[in-house]
Amino acid sequence: MLETRKAQREDRVSNHEDKDRPSSRIGGFYRMSTRERVDLLVERGVIDAQDAALLRSHGGGLDAQMANQMVENAIGVLELPLGLGLNFKVNGRDYLVPMAVEEPSIIAAVSHVAKIARGSGGFEARAEGNVMIGQVQVVGCEDWDKAREAIEAQRDELIASANALQPNMVERGGGVTGLEVRLIDEGNYQRMLVVHLFIDCCDAMGANAINSVAEGMAPRIEELTGGRVFLRILSNLADRRKVRATCRIPFRDLAWKSFSGKEVAEGIVLASEFAEVDPYRAATHNKGIMNGIGAVCIATGNDWRALEAGAHAYCARDGRYRPMAIWRIEGETLVGILEIPIQVGTVGGPIRLHPTVQLAHKILRIESAAELAEVMGAVGLAQNMGALKALATEGIQRGHMSLHARSVAATAGAKPEELDRVVERLIEDGEIKVHRAREILLAMRASGELEAAG
Ligand code: MEV
Repeated sequence: MLETRKAQREDRVSNHEDKDRPSSRIGGFYRMSTRERVDLLVERGVIDAQDAALLRSHGGGLDAQMANQMVENAIGVLELPLGLGLNFKVNGRDYLVPMAVEEPSIIAAVSHVAKIARGSGGFEARAEGNVMIGQVQVVGCEDWDKAREAIEAQRDELIASANALQPNMVERGGGVTGLEVRLIDEGNYQRMLVVHLFIDCCDAMGANAINSVAEGMAPRIEELTGGRVFLRILSNLADRRKVRATCRIPFRDLAWKSFSGKEVAEGIVLASEFAEVDPYRAATHNKGIMNGIGAVCIATGNDWRALEAGAHAYCARDGRYRPMAIWRIEGETLVGILEIPIQVGTVGGPIRLHPTVQLAHKILRIESAAELAEVMGAVGLAQNMGALKALATEGIQRGHMSLHARSVAATAGAKPEELDRVVERLIEDGEIKVHRAREILLAMRASGELEAAG
């Protein structure tokens, strides 16, 4: 099975259809209006006219009736901005990355870093598979060792009957692949046996299937152990569904404003070490990583709470909370490594129902859950580098300020071709407010300063 997966992945990476894949480089995208961006995506064959209409509609195609099929007591729909992370190359493939997020700077920062990384081949990322864990808690056994031995002795029978509960998943090449039994015996707590069922969920995130298997196995586990089965639920500490993403960026590509590439790299390493030794910093470091991963998770209709829970729990696996990504220098190269569980799917859940989520999948052009997880790993690493690079050089506020000024200037009516100059003047002025932007814009137009831009 592992071999087949590996071959599928290699096939994916060297896919001959890649020649039709749109480039993730789109020069000047940030200067365009949203209408122009959508038109350009149609022109490049990323989306079609119907998709463009969907993007321009309110609610992204999700009406109250659909919302009512998704949750209880629905009264409406909450919209979020959807943007594209640009410049991504992951495992040699270009990806336009849909990101749904309300915070400014995230998409700009990740696209900026992806552009830098692209110069040295982009990101490498490996998802180890789609295996999740279903937990069955057993309490009240008379003889704990015997109970454990009984489960272990019937391993094959248990796996076969678990698989009989999910024939479709088995048919798709997944299903229960193994189990383990843990005896938890900790001081003042009640003793318990915990049976872990390892379930390959293929391209689904898998929560429903796992919970059904865990519930379906309960009677037999009670019979074998003589105890009482209590909780039957998946674990979001999906440490058999990890992704490892890396990038290697030469110093020469890191020079930034007055900072040399070496200074930027050393600053990023120092910031990484801060997160490695201090959980207070690690939490913020990891929040920045999740800015990117969470945004892709939401855009692709996945359960971001599950992903967050698993990623943070993994960071505390040895008893101390640690960063999801670290940075080192090798010779004249900055090397970044991210490793976390990423539990996402490309089928099921809102992916079936939500029209904009379906469109996000179409734009991303991924073929499997593992491939989506690999792209997300790369996005997390890029997001981390974007934050550390800003923090280690001019600080985070300056970049935020210019993005804020850009949106204020656009709200004040500056045309895309006027934006750069108005933003520059607005920042010099220091009062980044719409009324001030309007005054500046009108004065610059009147004096002819914006004519060359028109
Ligand atoms: C803000 O949303 C994220 C950062 O705080 C991340 C970090 O500090 O690494 C900038």
